[in-house]
Amino acid sequence: MASKNDDVLISLTGINKGFPGVRALDNMSLEVRKGEVLALVGENGAGKSTLIKILSGLYQKDSGEIRVRGEKVEIQDTKHAQALGISTIFQEPSLAQHLTAVENVYLGREVVKSFLGGAVKLLDEKTMYQETEKLYRNFFSTVEDLNRPVSELGALKNRVIEIAKALSVNASVVIMDEPTASLAEEERDVLFDFIHTLKEQGVSIIYVSHHLHELFLFTDRFHVMRDGKHIKTVNADETSVDHLVSLMVGREITNFVEKQTVPIGEEILRVSNLSRPGILKDINFHVREGEIVGIAGLAGSGRTETVRAVMGADPIRSGSVSVSGKQFRIRSPRDAIRAGIGLLPENRKLHGALTGMSVSKNITITSINKVVAMKFVINKKKEVQIAKDYIKRLGIKTPSEKQKVKFLSGGNQQKVILAKWLYTKPKVLIFDEPTQGIDVGAKVEVYNLMSEFVANGGGILMVSSDLLELKGLADRIYVMHQGEFAHEFSREEATEENITFYASGGHKA
Ligand SMILES: Nc1ncnc2c1ncn2[C@@H]1O[C@H](COP(=O)(O)OP(=O)(O)OP(=O)(O)O)[C@@H](O)[C@H]1O
Ligand SMILES: [Mg+2]
Repeated sequence: MASKNDDVLISLTGINKGFPGVRALDNMSLEVRKGEVLALVGENGAGKSTLIKILSGLYQKDSGEIRVRGEKVEIQDTKHAQALGISTIFQEPSLAQHLTAVENVYLGREVVKSFLGGAVKLLDEKTMYQETEKLYRNFFSTVEDLNRPVSELGALKNRVIEIAKALSVNASVVIMDEPTASLAEEERDVLFDFIHTLKEQGVSIIYVSHHLHELFLFTDRFHVMRDGKHIKTVNADETSVDHLVSLMVGREITNFVEKQTVPIGEEILRVSNLSRPGILKDINFHVREGEIVGIAGLAGSGRTETVRAVMGADPIRSGSVSVSGKQFRIRSPRDAIRAGIGLLPENRKLHGALTGMSVSKNITITSINKVVAMKFVINKKKEVQIAKDYIKRLGIKTPSEKQKVKFLSGGNQQKVILAKWLYTKPKVLIFDEPTQGIDVGAKVEVYNLMSEFVANGGGILMVSSDLLELKGLADRIYVMHQGEFAHEFSREEATEENITFYASGGHKA
């Protein structure tokens, strides 16, 4: 692929990268043209993040050739990548949590003002603040947070700051690895506008995502990867979601499953009068055995706050939680787990996995039998067998069940946490965005496992921004608006229009 074309900004040929037991990149090639959006697509573990980390100077390739603007380069480290004009938003949150937004954006390249002919140098805090504010304003109308440590700001704003940071260096290529995870629809739209603007300015973009439909809004070419190999590069106007899926997975998969019909039983979870000043207003709902209940709403409407309050993760002013008719005083997640409630949180990186431990340990050492004082001890053989079963069903890509979770790809780590909760078998399972970051093939299996869980008498409460997912799975859907439950729909009544109507406060207009 030694192209003489002036349009080519970056080209990779014959790139190999291995880890113990894994061939992450296998003779990979790639070409990025000036001012184009190139989307990297492939299943969890296909090698997308590895490729990006090599381009960003975070990993070193084992062999192969990288050219930037025709020049052969060996990218030494992240500073070197930046100097070459490569700026990256990584899949894993990467801000320094104790620093403010401004400090993060300018970390390592602070703006300095010189006085007395250069004898005195001071940080130009004003310029840095103003520039950050300008970038930030593109996403938010209020900016009072810029001088607070980012640890206090929540996942969404953290993401925005990371994006602002990547855009603040004058890059010739911006790489984004799943940038919309935890972004709301409006913020996504702003990001997509940005992408168009960058493109017009001649900046190239490498974009990694599992949201194939969304990608068609701005992608010029798709770079399909499978098992570390380059399968094909196709022009966006010459392909479709179905075509891409078939290239990605290399086998037939069903498109979508609906929840199987199961008998609806007794009430299993009842939440009454849940309130938290300024955040949640008098929340009431219930979930029955066999039911999947959805919560829809815009980001910031209180969906995550609701499930965190039920789980005892945040303090509440008032309200009660009953499981199978028995009222519990839930003041911590430990209390909730004891009562029979499990939560698969939105921000799985921070809460979900013991990443230094093996896949099989993560699945089988469950929080529940830890708090229930190890009523039974799982024998090693059974542990391995259980882990193998989930690895197969969810298609968890790992050299073996012994691999440490931290060495798995982002999506495969999520599958492990999912398996862990499904195996824990609490009475009620709460999912906050169950398929975020999960590839198209595994999604179906996640839905099957959820259906199976309720068919065996469990109940599921599910927060999701994916309306198709909600409509396909949920028996009932509650729509939230500004910290309140605005409306309840049955599956039959729920349409995109009327959910959006309540989610955006139409009933109050
Ligand atoms: N530091 C590491 N040590 C060992 N194995 C690794 C390491 N980093 C990645 N791998 C392995 O390399 C393969 C490719 O992983 P990569 O993170 O590039 O996948 P991905 O395409 O980004 O997947 P996802 O969609 O889940 O993010 C996986 O099998 C992964 O387990
Ligand atoms: Mg990845």
